[in-house]
Amino acid sequence: MNQILKKRVLTPVTKEIVVSAPHIARKAQPGQFVILRVSEQGERIPLTIADYNREEGTITLVYQEVGFTTKLLGKLEPNDTIMDLAGPLGLPAELPEKGCVVAVGGGVGVAPLLPKCKELHKRGVNLISIVGARSSDLIILEQEVKECSDELCICTDDGSRGFHGFVSDKLKQMLENGLKPDEVVAIGPMPMMKATCNVTREYGIKTWVSMNPIMVDGTGMCGACRVTVAGETKFACVDGPMFDGHLVDWDEAWRRANTYREQEKCANERCRCGGEH
Ligand code: FES
Repeated sequence: MNQILKKRVLTPVTKEIVVSAPHIARKAQPGQFVILRVSEQGERIPLTIADYNREEGTITLVYQEVGFTTKLLGKLEPNDTIMDLAGPLGLPAELPEKGCVVAVGGGVGVAPLLPKCKELHKRGVNLISIVGARSSDLIILEQEVKECSDELCICTDDGSRGFHGFVSDKLKQMLENGLKPDEVVAIGPMPMMKATCNVTREYGIKTWVSMNPIMVDGTGMCGACRVTVAGETKFACVDGPMFDGHLVDWDEAWRRANTYREQEKCANERCRCGGEH
């Protein structure tokens, strides 16, 4: 059992919790994630470690209340406990030691992007961050990303703040204006990561994405998190979650991500009706 120590509401649908997890905090590195279960019979969901504090033995998790389990999680308050928390899982992100990196984050994807931004900043990399959301009230962790970036651009799909358009459009504009980053790290909804890769492919810029497929065991045994990368089968939980975005089979990943839409809809209905699992 892991106790929730703090909770912060980032947007009407996004929450941040700080959880006591000394064993995970001791070993966590940027790019890694945990799998948690809220209740005894609950499903297991992966969440990226948005931050960790080795001294205090805590990890920070950010989640959007979109599904049954994240809604259950959203009902927990400080002093409540999470049934199981397994991690750190996955490979740490391969980050450059120098040069210029553009970090592109969309929606709740800014949370898993943040630890990479912090690490890049620590290494002295010139970091340009592009953070976007559908509207200004859905922008998360702006201050935290700003603190470790040399430059920060805010984008909104509806134009309510900053650049009016997608983060991939902003990146395209920057590249057209002569920016020459060594690498791009893009994390967010799948269409956003795919669009970003389409922009950088033209310029031959290495682009890392973080895949977030359905996961069950998180240890490479069940095959649920299968993704095809460069024509080879990879498991996001043990071979990722970060992959070269230019080599990902996006169409297959999208199909697999939507496999259980109907069941998810039913579970959400149950959640609305007060079901527990
Ligand atoms: S979650 Fe089962 S193989 Fe990755």
